[in-house]
Amino acid sequence: MSRASAPALEHEESILVVDFGAQYAQLIARRLRELHVYCEIHPPQRAYEAAQRLRPRGVILSGGPASVYAANAPVLDRRILELGVPFLGICYGMQWLCESLGGKVEPADVHEYGRASMTLEREDALVAGLSSPTQIWMSHGDRVVRLPEGAVPLGTTESCPLAAMAIPARKLYGVQFHPEVTHTVEGKLLLANFVRHVCGCAGNWRMGSFVDLEIERLRKQIGETGEVILGLSGGVDSSVVACLLHRAIGERLHCIFVDNGLLRAGERESVEEVFRGHFQMDLTVVDASERFLSKLAGVDDPEKKRKIIGYEFVEVFRAEAKRFRNARFLGQGTLYPDVIESVAVHGGPTATIKSHHNVGGLPKDLELELVEPLRELFKDEVRELGVILGMPEEMVRRQPFPGPGLAVRVPGAIQRSHLEALRAADKIVRQEIEAAGWQKHLWQYFAVFLPVRSVGVMGDGRTYEHAVAVRLVESEDAMTADWALPPKPVLDRISNRIINEVDGINRVVLDISSKPPATIEWE
Ligand code: XMP
Repeated sequence: MSRASAPALEHEESILVVDFGAQYAQLIARRLRELHVYCEIHPPQRAYEAAQRLRPRGVILSGGPASVYAANAPVLDRRILELGVPFLGICYGMQWLCESLGGKVEPADVHEYGRASMTLEREDALVAGLSSPTQIWMSHGDRVVRLPEGAVPLGTTESCPLAAMAIPARKLYGVQFHPEVTHTVEGKLLLANFVRHVCGCAGNWRMGSFVDLEIERLRKQIGETGEVILGLSGGVDSSVVACLLHRAIGERLHCIFVDNGLLRAGERESVEEVFRGHFQMDLTVVDASERFLSKLAGVDDPEKKRKIIGYEFVEVFRAEAKRFRNARFLGQGTLYPDVIESVAVHGGPTATIKSHHNVGGLPKDLELELVEPLRELFKDEVRELGVILGMPEEMVRRQPFPGPGLAVRVPGAIQRSHLEALRAADKIVRQEIEAAGWQKHLWQYFAVFLPVRSVGVMGDGRTYEHAVAVRLVESEDAMTADWALPPKPVLDRISNRIINEVDGINRVVLDISSKPPATIEWE
């Protein structure tokens, strides 16, 4: 498996983000895109080389889990500091900056985690317009205890005297907190100050430029004759990838829709209608439901289920790929949140929460090269792209559906009758939420089959049947999510209809867990 990184195009102004393995490195990139500035993220070992090519207007050093003194501390070529452009070190990034310039970093007495109040110490372009005190968000074990020469403190908190610092003469900055997360209330302003006023970026980059850039990158990666197989699920992500690829290489794109037996009601039909009918793309529908369901029979471990589904997907693609002589590429609608929770996007150390089928489950010997144009984007950015690409509104606004499909919504071993019940219940949830116009408040709304039985009474008889959980969540990017509560009549209709219309279900419960600590899907 490989992902060719086609050379980026020339950019008048850009920011280089050095990823020290931060959970939220892509949030920095996202904030920069919101400020209409092009950025590239590179791991420390490739950052210096990238900087020489990119000639950025500024560099942001991300946070990271290591300690600057640890043996496994990521190595960044110190010559990067000679670029002569402004730097903003965030958390670990600040510590690296200070340590590299002769300051001192030590473990903090207490690991600081959560909100804090920062008082500004002096005026500076970086903190212009910020309130004092201002709420910031901290998450660190080490901290800077002695500043390098020429550095001055910019902000302090009760437990962290050097919460922000500057070396004004060299336009080098460090903040111990995380301006990229929304808990740092004025974090966006601080980043805007850095990018616009310190680095002097005008902010001319737009999502439309992403389309042009990506199409050009795709053409370079795929070549003049290369053909791409794309696993099309009908979701926003793979659909946007399909549209991008279709624009880039036309009929050399071959979309494959796999009916894995884990789809929602009506899904296969609508995909055929939209892509074959409306977009006139080359679409093959493979009915592999028997194959998937028999492989999953009796498997109750969530990770094993995900791995099996991922593996079977790849096998199906591989078999299909043989029909296209030049198909050396596999297109995928992988997004950044999928990546960050499976493996770190640039190879850094990030804990595995779930093996997403489209990221973690691919065998090493896959002979197809990956094409993943959305790998660094968040969902709302992909939707914006979809609109730019002329996709129909209902498609762009569609709720996300996980690659492993209904398998992650039937906890434990999957029984076909349970899948049937879930499909029927899920259709009702979708119908009622949409009839009430509530989908616009929600990131996802679906049913989960609960393999527990409870006693009920229907007519004059006792029932002993399964339950369904209704999962309704609000979210901006799936990294975090809140459970939602539509008006009681909407929930009433969902509950009544499921219990009356779906065989084998006599109880409906509402999932009131947020992410974290729960996840959106049940497995
Ligand atoms: P969790 O359950 O991890 O889900 O909070 C976050 C978002 O990702 C979707 N999801 C997946 N998407 N492949 C995907 O493409 C997967 O394997 C997968 N698993 C979860 C989930 O629906 C939610 O939007």
